[in-house]
Amino acid sequence: MEQVVTFHNGNTMPKVGLGTFRVEEGQQLVEAVKHAIVSGYRSIDTARIYDNEKSVGEGIRQGIEAAGISRSDLFITTKLWLDDFGYESALEAYQASLDRLGLDYVDLYLLHWPGTDEQLYFDSWKALEKLYNDGKVRNIGVSNFAIQHFERLLEVASVKPVINQVEFTPYLNQKELRDYMKEKFIVAESWSPLMNGEILTNEVVMNIAEKHGKSPAQIIIRWNIENDVVIIPKSVTPERIEENLNVYDFELTKEDHYELDQLNEDRRVGPDPADYNGNN
Ligand SMILES: NC(=O)c1ccc[n+]([C@@H]2O[C@H](COP(=O)([O-])OP(=O)(O)OC[C@H]3O[C@@H](n4cnc5c(N)ncnc54)[C@H](OP(=O)(O)O)[C@@H]3O)[C@@H](O)[C@H]2O)c1
Repeated sequence: MEQVVTFHNGNTMPKVGLGTFRVEEGQQLVEAVKHAIVSGYRSIDTARIYDNEKSVGEGIRQGIEAAGISRSDLFITTKLWLDDFGYESALEAYQASLDRLGLDYVDLYLLHWPGTDEQLYFDSWKALEKLYNDGKVRNIGVSNFAIQHFERLLEVASVKPVINQVEFTPYLNQKELRDYMKEKFIVAESWSPLMNGEILTNEVVMNIAEKHGKSPAQIIIRWNIENDVVIIPKSVTPERIEENLNVYDFELTKEDHYELDQLNEDRRVGPDPADYNGNN
């Protein structure tokens, strides 16, 4: 199986990356990012609101050196938080993220949530388009967009988002949104894919794991990538970081997919994008 997805603009992104939410600045995060890169990860996901871009940047620098690779081999994502929304403030926030990361570009910059003020996310998107058209960022996308947000954004956008990072788990399989995005050639990416561990003790997932001689986390990761969904499981544990990338030596069966698809209950662990404004 290909280990990257190709965007509508021809650029590629690794299917499996490392998430960094809820890990504070500090040595643990530096080591996790470095370990991921040395273990073969080429994609790292952070955000301004995670308050950890400095350590992610340090981990990247140490990882590049230890793995003997170059910056251009990596795919780094960060995101624009809601309180930086607006045209000028988005441009400033991007530069501030680069400064904290110690990078001169990122590979993907996302609107973190649509928020509830439509004009503000339009203005912010225009800023991302400017960064993209000026060659300051390689790709631009969104996160937590529902179909109604896309319908409106696509009316005003001159650059179409390459990706939408959303909650996607066996309990919330987002079929309608994924079908809509496929039609528009927008890639899907899942956040909290392991439901912070909750899904790993589901009996169906555990049985499929046992059958394949794989871990429950590897089953969920494989289910994502076989559904063309990019995935960024978070771990600071070296063995788990390695385990989560070791998913290219087996395949789920049609029956496995059927059983996992039956788990859908349209149940979220995070906020609903329809009315989330960053505070509620
Ligand atoms: N765009 C958004 O709005 C949004 C929202 C939430 C998250 N995200 C992104 O998505 C990433 C992933 O989501 P998440 O961090 O919320 O949670 P997650 O990846 O679903 O789960 C992380 C938890 O699972 C554990 N874990 C990881 N690999 C494991 C394995 N192989 N076996 C057993 N346990 C394992 C980790 O423990 P240890 O670390 O202790 O090993 C951690 O407690 C985030 O880090 C962030 O980058 C984006």
